Amino acid sequence: MSERPAFYITTPIYYVNDVPHIGHAYTTLACDVLARFKRLDGYDVMFLTGTDEHGQKVEKSAEKAGMPPQEFCDKVSARFGQLAEAMKFSNDQFIRTTEPRHRVSVQRLWQVLEEKGFIYEDSYAGWYSVRDEAFYSEDELSEGEGGEKQAPSGAPVEWVEEPSYFFRLSAMQDKLLELYEDQPDFVMPKSRLNEVRSFVSGGLLDLSISRTSFSWGVPVPGKEGHIMYVWIDALANYLTAVGYPDEESDSYKAFWPANVHMIGKDILRFHAVYWPAFLLAAELPLPHRVFAHGWWTNEGQKISKSLGNVIDPFELIESYGLDAVRFYLLREVPFGNDGDFSRTSFVQRCNADLANGIGNLNNRTLGLIVKNCDGAIPTHNELSSEDNELLTKTDVLLDEVRNHMDNQAFHKAFEAIWKVASDADSYISVEEPWKLKKTDTERMKTVLYVLAEVIRQLAILIQPIVPDAAGRLLDGLGISVKERSFAFLGADHRLVSGTTIIKPDVIFPRLEMPVVDGDTE
Ligand code: MSP
Repeated sequence: MSERPAFYITTPIYYVNDVPHIGHAYTTLACDVLARFKRLDGYDVMFLTGTDEHGQKVEKSAEKAGMPPQEFCDKVSARFGQLAEAMKFSNDQFIRTTEPRHRVSVQRLWQVLEEKGFIYEDSYAGWYSVRDEAFYSEDELSEGEGGEKQAPSGAPVEWVEEPSYFFRLSAMQDKLLELYEDQPDFVMPKSRLNEVRSFVSGGLLDLSISRTSFSWGVPVPGKEGHIMYVWIDALANYLTAVGYPDEESDSYKAFWPANVHMIGKDILRFHAVYWPAFLLAAELPLPHRVFAHGWWTNEGQKISKSLGNVIDPFELIESYGLDAVRFYLLREVPFGNDGDFSRTSFVQRCNADLANGIGNLNNRTLGLIVKNCDGAIPTHNELSSEDNELLTKTDVLLDEVRNHMDNQAFHKAFEAIWKVASDADSYISVEEPWKLKKTDTERMKTVLYVLAEVIRQLAILIQPIVPDAAGRLLDGLGISVKERSFAFLGADHRLVSGTTIIKPDVIFPRLEMPVVDGDTE
């Protein structure tokens, strides 16, 4: 087994009822940035994503597409695989709930819950939303515009009556409240923990966990005609991927329990109530954290297929380039809050922070080195207090960024990094190395050395966010691949004078402002 500390991070597994959109890309991107960060910081990372392929919603979508469900799942799941490639997600696994290993795992989990006395047979009579794949009690419903009943999410509900197995969720109330008390970081952000706590404090009803009115799912072991409720099936993917039910396997021992289950706020109850309840009942260790992020709207409007305003991540990458997409999504909105996507803010943000920010800094610095220092990292003389100040800020950056990343405060981590980039910009403006060529070449060399060193460290730090651009920056400075981990940050590893540099082509292209209706220009 690895000597390095383990870090296990998961995305929700995506329903294959539809093609991937920006919301899916967003959740996985957050995990990808964290996974890449942890790898560079010396962790043995397991980063899991995949697709949720059973249940009524998928069955109906397959029917609508006129395809057998498995064939339909294969097709849509592949599209999520393509998204992972296009976004350069570095997931270690892509799980599908129709895989045989998953059937074994979730059936075993069921048996354990049954053996421990948490499952009983009864029948369900109540409301169900296929879109949410969720049961709702009468008092959770509201009236839609046409007087029809609807779920809190706005999804339609239907009355269901069928034989069903139940999980004794009601018995877990106290244990769950204890969990939220003892492990206050179990649910983040804090506002979400309060939401969960108040839901559980209100009392829990037992949960229907098998369905009999359709057949696209994992069969309940030994109970003919019953298939598992899609959420018990789906949640168990997190265990399957690391080897459950083989609790002695290396990967289970290394990676379970998960460090972070990243989710959107809409699926909080499933992850912060049902999932720990299943695990507590099965006497399995609980994950350390469930982080629920907010939702994107598009230019102020809820994103929905019927409004025709779904943002296609493939199109965004095509229009703006991958690095810009990755940067904008995690920089623009405090992680955990809802955010509004707008092409104007996209272009403004990327031009200011990428093209004019780090891109321009690199361009100016390397341009001057190529012109005035024979294309090699210059030697520096004695460092001034300004030089030392900037270098120290850079050297201590990792600690601050790590702290923000450990709290999934991506925007704060980015802010800290870009603050140093802007300090370097002020430094270059004050020092004016282009003027020093004539007056003091030794000082010019020192200034350029300091700037190149700051760029080296910034480039190492931004690899998780903008991997392509960071790679080009590091190539330009002649940094070998093995010197790109966080172990090479700080004052112990400085740029080696004399290293040949290559001024790279544009690192962050300047983006065109979108043409807005009514613009005359
Ligand atoms: N299959 C379940 C998850 C099972 S996990 C054991 C599911 N799938 S989903 O495909 O509907 O949604 C997956 C994720 O996409 C959720 O985390 C959801 O919050 C996220 N998003 C969907 N639309 C979104 C936005 N408009 N904005 C941000 N994220 C959104 O739920």
